[in-house]
Amino acid sequence: MTARPRVLSGIQPTADSFHIGNYLGALREWVRMQETHDCFYCVVDQHAITTEHDPGVLRERTFTSFAQLLAVGLDPERSTIFVQSQVPEHSQLAWVLECQTGFGEASRMTQFKDKSVKGGAERSSVGLFTYPILQAADILIYQANAVPVGEDQRQHLELTRDLAQRFNGTFGQTFTVPEPMIIKETAKVVDLQEPSAKMSKSAPGGCVFLLDDDSVSRKKIKSAVTDSEREIRFDPVGKAGVANLLTMQQALTGRGMADIVASYEGRGYGDLKSETADIVMDVIAPIRARTRELLADRAELLRLMALGADRARATASITLRDVYEKVGFIPV
Ligand code: TRP
Repeated sequence: MTARPRVLSGIQPTADSFHIGNYLGALREWVRMQETHDCFYCVVDQHAITTEHDPGVLRERTFTSFAQLLAVGLDPERSTIFVQSQVPEHSQLAWVLECQTGFGEASRMTQFKDKSVKGGAERSSVGLFTYPILQAADILIYQANAVPVGEDQRQHLELTRDLAQRFNGTFGQTFTVPEPMIIKETAKVVDLQEPSAKMSKSAPGGCVFLLDDDSVSRKKIKSAVTDSEREIRFDPVGKAGVANLLTMQQALTGRGMADIVASYEGRGYGDLKSETADIVMDVIAPIRARTRELLADRAELLRLMALGADRARATASITLRDVYEKVGFIPV
């Protein structure tokens, strides 16, 4: 038995590669938390079918996402790393939780509202609507104490807490009520071409992907938008492009900002860009190499997925049995 608090988090396999923003904003924290927590991390492929998708692409992205989780330093010996659809208890619990969620309550989720404006509510899937409840199931099935997520997930976490408290109130103590662990965006990385926007896979020109070739990423960093001054100082409001490059350097080297800025005294944006590119490449090149190695051995990846799923199910099945019993289902 471990006395460590438990965390669970998930990431969607909706891109061919994670990017440096995912790495600094989430994955690197996940790796660090292995020192202090009992960690469960999953590739949430079931969430990835809530909008239109291609099956072959999804399968490939699930492999690639899983491989990248290992490549950044998540350790399948210490942590439980798995693919959501391989653990059927998530959907089984989600159904029970859906029956505890008010229609109005679910309708207030802003992410659904945002995502459904694209195709219109009429054409959005019911799965997109119930997405946050599946997410609640992901968390509650493991009795997680904390959930490291970005600010955009705060409302889903609130719903998760409400559902846990409601279920406990109605059926007796069943779920741990998880705390959101909003990852402080000390290293908030913005779009290289559009520094007013967060770096995102949907704007690939300003996004540094972990799996792109060095030459591609280097070129993106070297053509980062800056400003018409020449001075290098850290001013995220007035000089967002320059500040972004400095932020990446700080986040990846751990050096103090004042120290980094001082090292550019009398030097120009060209140096700042090429040195930032060097620092970024030093970090992502080994991740890319390791990911490729892992992807070349599908049998080994499948084995590691099965190991994670087995471990996850050992915990998830205990919660599910309790829930089924409490709501009045007859055990087989
Ligand atoms: N909705 C989360 C996101 O888009 C992904 C996710 C699914 C998740 N299930 C989760 C995050 C459980 C934390 C815990 O980022």
